[in-house]
Amino acid sequence: MSDYRLIVALDVPNALQGLQLAETLGDAVSFYKIGLGMLTGGGLALANELKQDQGKRIFLDMKLFDIGATVENAVRGLAQYDLDFLTVHGDPHVVRAAKEGAAGKDLKILAVTILTSLDRADLDAGLIKPGDLPDLVAERATLAFEAGADGVIASPQEAAMIRALPNSASRLIVTPGVRPAGAALGDQKRVATPAQAITDGADHIVVGRPIWASDDPAAAARSILNDLP
Ligand code: C5P
Repeated sequence: MSDYRLIVALDVPNALQGLQLAETLGDAVSFYKIGLGMLTGGGLALANELKQDQGKRIFLDMKLFDIGATVENAVRGLAQYDLDFLTVHGDPHVVRAAKEGAAGKDLKILAVTILTSLDRADLDAGLIKPGDLPDLVAERATLAFEAGADGVIASPQEAAMIRALPNSASRLIVTPGVRPAGAALGDQKRVATPAQAITDGADHIVVGRPIWASDDPAAAARSILNDLP
């Protein structure tokens, strides 16, 4: 049975390797994330193939940010591909424009609040207003929901806080930065286990290296799915 809660990040260099990985994973995985790194390596063609030929769901992680008219046009173009999730930065004008571009399609618009790789010093350098990161994340999530975002991308350690926001009901929370107990962290810092992320309110978890860098990716995916509550 398909469990769409697990989204596997296809962070491989090109569409051919992405297709091979998807074949290796087979029925174990029903939802894939394709990111910017794959765009010049045939990412959209791969998305199309996995969706149309193999019936998988697709999360296009583009993190769009531009003037409203450009975002709207870009999203209208991407929405023709009949994909499932698309990320944009959570600034209200960007979210509103993306929702306009996706009008009439099933494409869900997910807002990035604050990139999890940024710390307060980075925010200072970017002239972002003072305040603790979790408070700013909560504020950005609230504004993104008000602007119509279907959901947000968040660190699993922020999931419970976002789930508790007054306007988060029926919005999606999607969390990368997930690691099975004992798995290598790589460059992820604020991690949680898959089960903890779901328990804290995530609807979907995004997992990359613990699956695609594993000797047995299908077994790694199944083991993560078996551990979900
Ligand atoms: O390999 P790993 O499980 O760390 O991959 C996580 C995926 O989620 C990567 O594609 C990464 O770019 C993405 N991501 C993230 N943190 C964010 C947003 C996206 O790790 N805040």
